[in-house]
Amino acid sequence: MGLFTRDFKSLEDLFLHGLQDIYYAEQQIVKTLPDLIEQVSTSELKQGLKEHLKQSQNHVWRLEIVFAALGEKPKGVRCKGIDGILSEGNELIGNSEGRSVIEAAVIASAQAVEHYEITRYGDLIAWAQEMGRKDLVKPLRENLREEKAADKKLTSVAQAKINKKADKTSRRGARCTRSRTKSATALAA
Ligand SMILES: [Fe+2]
Ligand SMILES: [Fe+2]
Repeated sequence: MGLFTRDFKSLEDLFLHGLQDIYYAEQQIVKTLPDLIEQVSTSELKQGLKEHLKQSQNHVWRLEIVFAALGEKPKGVRCKGIDGILSEGNELIGNSEGRSVIEAAVIASAQAVEHYEITRYGDLIAWAQEMGRKDLVKPLRENLREEKAADKKLTSVAQAKINKKADKTSRRGARCTRSRTKSATALAA
């Protein structure tokens, strides 16, 4: 953005910027999902993430359709939002220990990504509607539908299985630490 000028003077400008932003974000997500898949072993979660990786590759492709409809070359702009979310997720997972706790951290990180995507697609759809561009709305809506479904799926895997297991693991861990502390205290006494 220039010192005396502003880059965005119309809804069309905002739309194009938002499109470039989510195009960058989707590409980063496609690069990151294989790492998340590596970190998990619960089959439902692994399958869900693998499926969403394929969907995310399609999201990139659908965004290219939107670029083409606008007569623009597909181009990403660095998105500080997704960079921050992905690096925070990486830190959270890297600092977690134990299968279920790691998986709970993976789900939380993946859901932060989904929510980011949902907000971006929501804006783009609303702007495309306002601009009277129904042709742009359709592929964006498809992406949004899949983001929401992925988010829902993550919630259900977390609530049905992983959070409970992670909670039990951490309680067991806490009990062990407590009994270790007790025996250490007993030894010291
Ligand atoms: Fe996506
Ligand atoms: Fe997604």
